[in-house]
Amino acid sequence: MNGNQQPIIILKEGTERETGMSAQRKNIMAAKIIADVVKTTLGPKGMDKILVDSMGDLIVTNDGATILKEIDIDHPAAKMMIEVAKSQDKECGDGTTTAVILTGELLKKAESLLDKGIHPTIISKGFKMALEKLKEFNEDLSTNVTEIDKETLKNIAKTSMASKNASTEDEIFSDIVVEAVTSIIEKVDGKIKINLDNIQIQKVHGQSVSHSEIVDGLVIDKNKQHVDMLKVVENAKIAIINDEFGMKKTNIESKLNITNPNEIQGYLEKEEEAIKNSVKYVTDSGANVILSQKGIDDEALHFLNKEGLFVVERVDKKDIKRIAKNTNGKIISKISEITNSDLGTGRIEQKKVGDVEMIFITNCPESRAVSIIITGSTIHLVDEIERGVHDALFVVKTALEDGKIIPGGGAKFIHDSMILKSYQTSVRGREQLAIEAFAEALEIIPKTLSENAGLDPIDIIMKLRNSHNIGNERDGIDINNGRVGDMYQANIIEPIRVSTNAITAATEATIMILKIDDVIASKKMDTEKGGGGMPPSPY
Ligand SMILES: Nc1ncnc2c1ncn2[C@@H]1O[C@H](COP(=O)(O)OP(=O)(O)O)[C@@H](O)[C@H]1O
Ligand SMILES: [Mg+2]
Repeated sequence: MNGNQQPIIILKEGTERETGMSAQRKNIMAAKIIADVVKTTLGPKGMDKILVDSMGDLIVTNDGATILKEIDIDHPAAKMMIEVAKSQDKECGDGTTTAVILTGELLKKAESLLDKGIHPTIISKGFKMALEKLKEFNEDLSTNVTEIDKETLKNIAKTSMASKNASTEDEIFSDIVVEAVTSIIEKVDGKIKINLDNIQIQKVHGQSVSHSEIVDGLVIDKNKQHVDMLKVVENAKIAIINDEFGMKKTNIESKLNITNPNEIQGYLEKEEEAIKNSVKYVTDSGANVILSQKGIDDEALHFLNKEGLFVVERVDKKDIKRIAKNTNGKIISKISEITNSDLGTGRIEQKKVGDVEMIFITNCPESRAVSIIITGSTIHLVDEIERGVHDALFVVKTALEDGKIIPGGGAKFIHDSMILKSYQTSVRGREQLAIEAFAEALEIIPKTLSENAGLDPIDIIMKLRNSHNIGNERDGIDINNGRVGDMYQANIIEPIRVSTNAITAATEATIMILKIDDVIASKKMDTEKGGGGMPPSPY
């Protein structure tokens, strides 16, 4: 073995290492700090935060996911918290703050168990048992929902938007959201599938929120190319083009060898000829609208205008694809090969939204896509509304796909807490303490909702426990009036997946963080000093 007592160096010089208790405690602390950052934003009475991004731009938000996305964090355990938020956002589009706060609280409870000398393995085992037990009772509080329950769906959207600044206009947006989601339902093997990519959001500021609308079709933020062109084309035959009018222009600089003035004339004539040909191919196909991914040069535009075509150039690649899909057209990569059957159909109109002209493509044969235009006085407001609408679209989708909803306002968390409290009495060993701690941690959600609304959290928790004890399982706290009551009656409802996923994600992250007793960080690259290759100053 290592006979000469020389240390074996396996870590590079400069590597930082922390082990055992100290690593664990620091991880817990870092994670708790993250939870604390977002805690005050939970629920309808949550506070806003102003974030300043690296470019100096401001974001005013109440959205936990956004806050965590924007803050620059280095600590590994803190990063795990961000991962919790991200995965919750990906799975459910909502409930991110809940998941993060719950993780923080589980870790806090775990910390006091560690203080009592309970091994992290036992704590993790107890937490896992708790999670398993809860899964058995998952659907206890749930009721079914289908696409015909429009009012219920609207209330789901409203509950989700309640905590965003969009909430003052929740009537407008819950209508828009429910209409948007229900109009893109697909049935695959008898199951509801909703692809939110079919809903496109356009944001316009400088207009009151009440001008927000839903459009059954596509809206692109572009202008037609000529003022004289028609504003509306009722029976549009749309050429969706990804090719140049006229001669091909190479991307590489090329040289044209011209030795006498006649040759220039000849070249220009050839170019004009080519442009005229391209225009003819398009008009011969029967197209009356051109949506082009590439720019179109002035000469070509002039001819197209003369032919009375409605032309939009430099349309986004993503939009081009969407347009082709919805209008049932083909993307034309060679103008000379265009035929009538390549053309998409629909109705095209250029309209003003606020001060911005936009192109509306409606009456599409493959009418899958819908667009939501969000208007608002300022960019900040429009952005925050968009975040609210994003969450609302997602929860309505989730509710429809799963077909199950539960009461909000903390009802689920008190319910689950009660289940675990009675379960822990049947568990032997120290895991019992962990399960009890888990039960207590779940109360953090209604507690925080109350706290953020200026209500007395202890008082509310007592009331909630009492009412659940006597069988009022749907009771939660209605923040709007400070009353404990049936959340279904208060129309505070949400898809079941949001909270079940949050509880699972929080438990898993907690267990993962508890397991770590060693943090080995390699030496940071020092970018400030010397990174640019300058030799150190001799002075
Ligand atoms: N009127 C209300 N009264 C009480 N709780 C509400 C009300 N409206 C929404 N909630 C609750 O607010 C919580 C969501 O808050 P939110 O700030 O959106 O956090 P998250 O990022 O976890 O979704 C949910 O638990 C939901 O049930
Ligand atoms: Mg939310």
